[in-house]
Parts: sequence; C-alpha cells; structure tokens
Amino acid sequence: MGKGSENGDKMIDIHMHLIPGVDDGAADMEMALSMALRAMDQGVTAIIATPHSAAFDGDPQRTVEQFNRLRAGLSRLLPVYLGCEVYCAPERMRTVTEALKTGRYPRMNGTSYVLTEFSPWVTEEDALVCAAALLRDGWKPVLAHVERYERLRSSVTALRAMGCLMQINAYSLYDEEDAAIRTFAQRLALDRVADVLGTDAHRTYHRPPSVRMGLKWLYENCAADYADSLSWWEAARLFEIREDSDGGI
Ligand SMILES: [Fe+2]
Repeated sequence: MGKGSENGDKMIDIHMHLIPGVDDGAADMEMALSMALRAMDQGVTAIIATPHSAAFDGDPQRTVEQFNRLRAGLSRLLPVYLGCEVYCAPERMRTVTEALKTGRYPRMNGTSYVLTEFSPWVTEEDALVCAAALLRDGWKPVLAHVERYERLRSSVTALRAMGCLMQINAYSLYDEEDAAIRTFAQRLALDRVADVLGTDAHRTYHRPPSVRMGLKWLYENCAADYADSLSWWEAARLFEIREDSDGGI
C-alpha cells in the first residue's frame, strides 16, 4: 500500500460512538458489533468508544455498564477503551471541568487527554477560551474532527501552540464530499499537524466506519513514518492503548 509501510492498513480509532443505546451512535448491541466488525475489516485494531458527554449527564452509571457489556462482547475480537466526546462552550466550562474532575466525564482511557467538541460554528475566540479552561486544570484537549470547523481553519497553529492536539476523521482524507473539509483535512496531514485519527462512526446506516480509502490516501501522499504515527502509533503512546489487551477499566 502506498509508500510501503508494513503497517499501512492499520489504525487505532480514537473517536467512535460505539456504546449501544446511550447517544446517537450504535442503537443496540447488534449494531455495535456490526460496526466494530466493519471497522476491523478495514484495519482498525483498537477502539476508544467516545459517547457524547450528554450520555454521562443523566445516568453515567448506565453508560459505563453499557460500555462494559460492549467490551465483553468484543473481548475476543479487539480491545475497546472508554472515552467521551466532551461538548465545550465558554458558558459550559465550569460544568465540564467539574465533571472531568469528579470522573463523571471519562478522559481518554483514563489519561489526561480529553476529546473536545465544539459547536460547528465555534469562533476562534470561544475555542481558545474553552481550551484554556481545560489546560488550566491540567487536561490536554484533543480537538475532535478539527477539519470540520470552518471558522477554526486559521486557528490550528495557535491552538496547537497552546497544547491542543488535532484529531481528524479518516474519511475526511478521501471520502468527504465537502471539498473544503476534505482539502483542509489533507492539508493538516501534509503539514504533519494532525495528530490522531478517528472514524466518528455513528451507525451502520449513518456515518458508518469508513477507513480504507482515507488510509490509502494517507500512505500514498505522506511519508510512511508520519502515516504510521497518525494512524496508530501516536494514539497508542498518548492514550496508553495496548492492542493485545481487552481495554478493561
Ligand atoms: Fe463524535
């Protein structure tokens, strides 16, 4: 594949709505298993399941129980870890930092990294305020699907300089129909400023796991060492992912 890395079809998916019945992701266990198999078939070797933070606002214990059921169901197939896509806006940051501190909102596999989501129309000013609030408490923001924020396209350098990491969706590199999003995702990879990959897969029929063509584009257009780093090595290092473990918490 591409420039010939032996790891060219391998990926750790750090952003997937795989926990059944807790958000707008997998509707039930059957769908979750089907999504995991589709991801595995395209090279995904470990997954961090990242429900929207609202899934931990109402009944967080149920969400964790559903995660444990999912992990048991996938135990012979691939490791799955717990995370959370934390919705951040300036007026919510007191709530968010409190929920992270108490553990109501899970960090990425228990590390200090927080998958951070904004409104699609977020301004640079608001993104900087949110990132600063997280960093002030010692959390490290990983900006989810950063290529999708139209008004942050000139802010990536400033956000990285603060200490934010950049997650892009694998499908954005090739399959994304919006040319501006696709081109920006490719630019982030070509400039080596994207740090980790996700699928942001939701359901079998809505934004299903789509990895194969994005990885192909990555290995054909970027150096193999960076492609390996973006697709799996950096995620393994940052989030302490072991592809041979069951991801238990
Ligand atoms: Fe998401």
